[in-house]
Amino acid sequence: MIGVIGCGNMASAIVHGISRAFRDEVFLTYTPSFTRAEKLAQEISGRAVKDLKDLRDCDTIIIGCKPQQFDSLVSELKGKFDFSHTYFISIMAAVSLKSIQSKLGVTKVTRVMPNTPSMQGEGVSLILHAEEVSQVERKKCSDYFSACSKVFPLSNEKLFDQVTTVSGSGPAYVFYFAKTMADQLESWGVESQEAKDIVIQLFKGSAKLMEENNKDSLGNLIDKVTSKAGVTVEAIKVYQEKKLDEITKSATEAAFKRSLEITKDLE
Ligand SMILES: NC(=O)c1ccc[n+]([C@@H]2O[C@H](COP(=O)([O-])OP(=O)(O)OC[C@H]3O[C@@H](n4cnc5c(N)ncnc54)[C@H](OP(=O)(O)O)[C@@H]3O)[C@@H](O)[C@H]2O)c1
Repeated sequence: MIGVIGCGNMASAIVHGISRAFRDEVFLTYTPSFTRAEKLAQEISGRAVKDLKDLRDCDTIIIGCKPQQFDSLVSELKGKFDFSHTYFISIMAAVSLKSIQSKLGVTKVTRVMPNTPSMQGEGVSLILHAEEVSQVERKKCSDYFSACSKVFPLSNEKLFDQVTTVSGSGPAYVFYFAKTMADQLESWGVESQEAKDIVIQLFKGSAKLMEENNKDSLGNLIDKVTSKAGVTVEAIKVYQEKKLDEITKSATEAAFKRSLEITKDLE
């Protein structure tokens, strides 16, 4: 039985995926206002509960509230029941394993960082287990998140938080890059919706090509559409001169710095 605490956009997307893949799994949902817990429960044939102690029989509990709401959850959850056999999976950004373990007084904790494409079943989920998580629980976690994403277990928390600045925040960077192209098309007179449709198809098709040519390096894929003395190479030269790679490096390092600050504030 899986308990879901906090049923916002991200937790709901994930739980929808898990419930489709694990039809026999029973879900209990909880939110302070009850409304979204009830909505999610209805959608997945689960049961919404009004009291956290009703989650006592859940072998797994997914924590899906915001990082800033965690302290209030801890004060409500502590002492409600014995957690010694409960396996906690947190999808909260920036709340460390150590912080979850010490605040809740538990050991079996996994951090998972999904991203918004999980809502379309095409997410990336980073996984970081505490040592105390058993092999059976590790497999279970991986199976759950595979229902809405590709999973990538990582070995340490620094790396987990660094990679998060690419996979977790990355959809915003992709949309930003897409917007610059759509804006350019519009400036040439392409109608706004059409500009957006062209760019969406460009990203979708390019992602598919990358996936189907997975063995090729990304540099090779660039070369394949960039003939010498052609048109594309002139654009690539500008990206190189303006140091797009350094912009990405600075951007993700700025995001990582902020992530460390938030983690510290939440300790
Ligand atoms: N968005 C992303 O790209 C992304 C990616 C990876 C991870 N995450 C993580 O996903 C988590 C949820 O994000 P979201 O955008 O889905 O948030 P959200 O839509 O605001 O949902 C938060 C949920 O937590 C509930 N909640 C509030 N206070 C609580 C408390 N004291 N105890 C228990 N539950 C409480 C809320 O209840 P009510 O319904 O009653 O208000 C709501 O259902 C965050 O920790 C975020 O870091 C997000």
